[in-house]
Amino acid sequence: MNWTDRFAVIRRLWTYLRDYKGRLFLISMLIVAGIGAELSGPYLLKIILDNHLAVLGTDEEHLFDPDTFWMLVGLYAASFVTASGMNVWRSYISNTTAIKFMERLRMELLTRSQRIGMRYFDRQPAGAIVSRVFDDTESVKNVLLHTAGSFIIDSLRVLFLYVAIFLLSPRIALLSLLILPMFFAFHYITVRYNGKYLKVIKELKALKNTIFSEAVQVMPVLQLFRAEKAAAARYNEANDKLFKNSEKRLYMLHMTDINLNGLINGLLVASLVWVVGSQSLHTAVTFGLLYTVIQYINQICQTIGQIGIRLTHTNDSFVSAERMFALMDEADENWELNQTEEETIARIAFKNVSFGYQPGQQVLKNISFEARRGQTVAIVGLTGSGKSTILNLLQGLYSPNEGSIYVNDREIHTVDTAWRRNRTAVVMQDSFLLKGSIADNVAFLDKNMARSQIHEALSAVGMSQFAGQKDVKGSQHALGESGGALSFGQKQLVAFARALAHNPEVLLLDEATSKVDSETEAQIMETLRKRCEERIQLVVAHRLSTVKEADLILVLHRGEIAEQGTHEQLLQMRGRYHRLYMLQQMGSEVEAG
Ligand SMILES: Nc1ncnc2c1ncn2[C@@H]1O[C@H](COP(=O)(O)OP(=O)(O)O)[C@@H](O)[C@H]1O
Ligand SMILES: [Mg+2]
Repeated sequence: MNWTDRFAVIRRLWTYLRDYKGRLFLISMLIVAGIGAELSGPYLLKIILDNHLAVLGTDEEHLFDPDTFWMLVGLYAASFVTASGMNVWRSYISNTTAIKFMERLRMELLTRSQRIGMRYFDRQPAGAIVSRVFDDTESVKNVLLHTAGSFIIDSLRVLFLYVAIFLLSPRIALLSLLILPMFFAFHYITVRYNGKYLKVIKELKALKNTIFSEAVQVMPVLQLFRAEKAAAARYNEANDKLFKNSEKRLYMLHMTDINLNGLINGLLVASLVWVVGSQSLHTAVTFGLLYTVIQYINQICQTIGQIGIRLTHTNDSFVSAERMFALMDEADENWELNQTEEETIARIAFKNVSFGYQPGQQVLKNISFEARRGQTVAIVGLTGSGKSTILNLLQGLYSPNEGSIYVNDREIHTVDTAWRRNRTAVVMQDSFLLKGSIADNVAFLDKNMARSQIHEALSAVGMSQFAGQKDVKGSQHALGESGGALSFGQKQLVAFARALAHNPEVLLLDEATSKVDSETEAQIMETLRKRCEERIQLVVAHRLSTVKEADLILVLHRGEIAEQGTHEQLLQMRGRYHRLYMLQQMGSEVEAG
């Protein structure tokens, strides 16, 4: 990462940091006060040594002033206490500020990532995104503590130290400037090698998280296929690689760290003593001065060593910050805030829509249809024919490659996403339930939803045994992680009730009753029919018996509409639909018999 990129990151971080101006000012004051106190220590000792102790045992012993002497010793001790106090205070404030800041970034990242188009999530596995939100914000926090915080402190300290040495002896100051080029040479080498490992380490960490979260998500499947060992091996492999790379990186960091501090410091003090020992400087340098300057030089070397280590760490933080901002930008690109209206959705239409998830792949070909308020449009077809894809496009999760999708009379991507989503409800094959009660899951984060509305929706899907009781065992029935307490079918029903309770203008059902028995399914369909004049319903269903009553049935085959019409019309065509229907009729007769 070059310095222009870093500068861009810093500028962007600053736009967030501005809100913490007061705290930042306090921190700067504490930094300056802390460094001042720290540097005054050796200087006070110089005065004690040269002006007071030096006279003891000489002819000028009568000049020794005990009062001043003890005051100076007191000040010397106080300088350390003050410096530590300032540092503790500063560290507390900067750490709490950084944590607050990080939580704010996380919140923002989370809210923004919810707006990101589905295409992004297709490219990035869920684990990688979790790792981003947590690891990257953590790293950015470190950027602040180590760049804006410690880096500035350390640089200031070095500057102050040089100024102090310069005031004491300009010639020694020039000599100690030699540290800088040596430091830069070392640092250059460190950063180069470090960067190489860091990139690999970051990628491996994300991979590890992905493997882990995938394994947890599909645990029942893994167990069913007896694939636990293979999954563990996959995780181990990533872990091993990660360890090896981290080990190499740490080894290198330690090498450079030890070399940098010890070597440069030693060389400098040696050359200083040598120069002072030689004639030219002899007269100007007292014992106390020499002591103080050596102290200062030790501090310079230590501080510069720390800067070096921190810079190598900040490099990863910069990379993280950049990735984090990239994620935020991605969200912005996919987010259009145009109009907010009280208008309702009365029509949706596909016009010559073609689409593929990946370039060159055709999942939908030239799809056109229209659905108006009060109509139910059914989509049937074999698995993989593109039924769910049509619903995905309708939710604006993807954009068509060709053709257009209309909401009322506007192109879908020109209408406000929030407006459209508020008026749409979806029930899918896999229903997601949150931790909480069934009632909570029906209301789904809508705290204002009336209890009666929740109960009505639950009764509509035949879950009245949960809706009827008002006590904790009723609809307050607690759900475990992803709704663990219910059967698949029951979860689907809760998801269904959720959709109904929100009283949507567009209801999208994607095999929403696939895990529910035929009887309950028929009952749900009956409920839907009762209220259908108020909305547009798009139903993807497996059992054709459930879509018989639809106003329009689209028969999808390999992404194309092969046949369309009402149930009767399609039966008369004696084509695919007819064949499919007959097969299912036979099936249900066998089932019934
Ligand atoms: N996220 C995705 N990325 C790439 N291909 C996908 C994705 N989702 C579905 N597909 C592909 O699109 C085709 C249609 O899928 P889908 O619409 O889910 O079918 P259906 O719902 O009719 O069973 C399938 O070939 C499937 O492999
Ligand atoms: Mg599907």
